[in-house]
Amino acid sequence: MENRAQWGTRAGFILAAIGSAVGLGNIWRFPAVAYENGGGAFFLPYLFALLTAGIPILILEFTIGHKYRGSAPLSFARMSKGAEWIGWWQVLISFVISTYYAVIVAWAISYAWFSVKLSWGSNTEEFLFNSYLKVESAGNFGSLVPGVFIPLLIVWLVALGILFAGVRKGIEIANKIFIPTLAIIFLIVCIRALFLPGALDGVEAFFKPDWSKIMDGKVWVAAYGQIFFSLSIAFAIMITYSSYLPKKTDITNNAFITGFANSSFELLAGFGIFAALGFMAFTAGKPIDEVVAGGIGLAFVVIPEIINQMGFLNEVFGVLFFLSLTFAGLSSLISISETYISGIQEKFNTSRAKAVVVGGGLAALISLMFATQGGINFLDVVDYFINQFGVALAGLFEVVLIAWFLRQLNPLQQHANAISDIRLGAWWKISLGAITPIVLGYMMFDLLRVNLISDYDFSDNPYPREFLFTYGWTVALGAILIGVLISRLKWKKQSLEIPVSNNKGVSS
Ligand code: ALA
Repeated sequence: MENRAQWGTRAGFILAAIGSAVGLGNIWRFPAVAYENGGGAFFLPYLFALLTAGIPILILEFTIGHKYRGSAPLSFARMSKGAEWIGWWQVLISFVISTYYAVIVAWAISYAWFSVKLSWGSNTEEFLFNSYLKVESAGNFGSLVPGVFIPLLIVWLVALGILFAGVRKGIEIANKIFIPTLAIIFLIVCIRALFLPGALDGVEAFFKPDWSKIMDGKVWVAAYGQIFFSLSIAFAIMITYSSYLPKKTDITNNAFITGFANSSFELLAGFGIFAALGFMAFTAGKPIDEVVAGGIGLAFVVIPEIINQMGFLNEVFGVLFFLSLTFAGLSSLISISETYISGIQEKFNTSRAKAVVVGGGLAALISLMFATQGGINFLDVVDYFINQFGVALAGLFEVVLIAWFLRQLNPLQQHANAISDIRLGAWWKISLGAITPIVLGYMMFDLLRVNLISDYDFSDNPYPREFLFTYGWTVALGAILIGVLISRLKWKKQSLEIPVSNNKGVSS
């Protein structure tokens, strides 16, 4: 018998998985990435990446968590002792991401508050960088910005409080509240945006296919990158979450539901954001491509500007938009942090409470560097490197190791098929055994080449080399190294045996 925590209901698990997937990546990343990489034509590489990497890896990770019933490091160690380091590497990637992801959620909370009185004034760019973040040049910390520090404290208290309460009483209940609320308010935001003048031109620009881009390798890289980040795969998250599933459940179906729900949300965000951008282009008398933005620039500069122009109930629109970002971000942050909390708990044989205090506390402490005046520069570089040379690379290693070296695809396929309605066959094995390693392998090779010959910059503003080295390369490569070191530590006796489940719980 095992005492492992378990989800109370199947819906609870699915909502938590969707809560993890749907995040900042869907709202501010997808629309801009799709537009810049061919608009309507981007859907071809996007769907290809979703069906040959996204969903197959999601199924793979759900199966690993369910079969080996442990955090990512423990699950990998149970599969093969030599694979444990991949689990830690992914956990460390999540750790790094959680430190700055929390800061962006904190900004969203501030902006929900600013929306009430449109406090950003008429120059939203000046407001973000000078009045709110008080930005310093790259590499300088400056002092802690109180306007970021206070909401950041709230974010960590809420996230860690939920994690402290446990899987069923914390994570499951939180997602049951956050996700339906998010769906409703974001739908209201998108529908409102669609009724603005110029909205339909914006949507048309978004969907207009530029087929000339389709042969460009960069477009395919963008599609894979988007799928990995957006579906929270190779983050150690989905293995951890599925390790709390009862023995009797459905894996493959759950993965399809999560994957399609995530893409639907992404599509909805594309409609909403481009409707708003269409309105902005209309009022400014400019073509769409002059107003398109993604990421921080979209959420905290362009959207406030659009809100300024909207008139009628624009404050409400602002509050709802930034609350959407907050809920989407919080539910993802919780899942990202659960990876190291469960990893610490199992490896060091300690209580959940201690793991939350140590792991969450350390992440919260480190996140303070992003709440300083120089924070946004650190955030930009850490985010770029940990995604490019963290998430995608860890995904490649995971697939290659499992499919080619450990030859685990057959046993995992049998495990999933024994409990799922949808049977996995050639599609799954060819995707993981051949297509993903080849495409992703080529992608990583090319990315490495580009980054070695030219330095990453922010809007053509070059960063100092030393800064990129310390906060980019060192963080990304450090995650691998520390992962290997932690995997050398011994487990408590019998930890590596797979526990016999009590077999209670929800059925499919
Ligand atoms: N999957 C999460 C997002 O899209 C991390 O933001």
